[in-house]
Amino acid sequence: MQGAIYPSLKDRTVLVTGGGSGIGEAIVRRFVSQGSRVGFIDIDLEASKHLLASLPAHASVHFEHADLRDIAALRRAVAGVREMFGPITILVNNAARDDRHAIEDVTPEYWDERIAVNLKHQFFSAQAIAPDMIQAGGGSIVNIGSVSWVIGQGNMPCYTTAKSAVQGLTRALARDLGPNNVRVNSILPGWIMTQRQQDLWLTPDGEAEIMQRQCLKRKLVPDDIARAVLFFAADDSSACTNQSYIVDGGWV
Ligand SMILES: NC(=O)c1ccc[n+]([C@@H]2O[C@H](COP(=O)([O-])OP(=O)(O)OC[C@H]3O[C@@H](n4cnc5c(N)ncnc54)[C@H](O)[C@@H]3O)[C@@H](O)[C@H]2O)c1
Repeated sequence: MQGAIYPSLKDRTVLVTGGGSGIGEAIVRRFVSQGSRVGFIDIDLEASKHLLASLPAHASVHFEHADLRDIAALRRAVAGVREMFGPITILVNNAARDDRHAIEDVTPEYWDERIAVNLKHQFFSAQAIAPDMIQAGGGSIVNIGSVSWVIGQGNMPCYTTAKSAVQGLTRALARDLGPNNVRVNSILPGWIMTQRQQDLWLTPDGEAEIMQRQCLKRKLVPDDIARAVLFFAADDSSACTNQSYIVDGGWV
């Protein structure tokens, strides 16, 4: 696997939520290639087993099967990773689900569930892991947001609302954890060609829009996000916190 090697990521314990497929899978692969100890949480057992089977035999990787909407299950999964690999000093809050919905169809229960899958666990993962980082003298949290709300994308108001709040959460956590040398940044992906995007949402019109709207005339892939995550996780970005960085090929 080509790309930068960050010495500060070697032997670090990393937790990636939603690491079983899509962008999360690429993030897991990149941290494995850095020699990190990688724990990941995912609801999708089959995809996660498939990823585990494809990683090199020497990889330090541990999978926790959990639904992140269940905060007790999230806490158990965090404890499982800590038990396996020791204190967690890098957290990548990645899991989400961009289901489409019309305003008139949203019930109070659906609203709560969308916030739970797209936002709530980001706070509770940080809450569970911050003591490890504080004890270790520092750490890095990378929250995955989205450009969807920045560009005013329709048809999923619960998702875009949650994703806009990731930016506020990032700044709130950065302020409160900064005195303990815990950095908190957000990465906002543009349109990234995961299997889910290709299966569900990519159309010939969508492809044409990518080529028209992006400055860079190519489709972006999960590894484009993973490589940006490495930088904000590593000590090379040690003065960067409280920020959101857009990785979208220049769409916005
Ligand atoms: N792909 C894109 O174009 C795009 C664009 C903007 C932002 N993003 C963001 O990037 C991140 C990753 O998205 P992706 O495109 O890779 O999605 P994906 O659907 O391909 O992968 C998401 C992963 O999270 C897991 N997951 C979902 N709900 C879960 C739950 N309740 N508990 C545990 N695991 C759960 C899924 O099983 C899956 O492995 C998300 O935060 C998403 O909002 C993606």
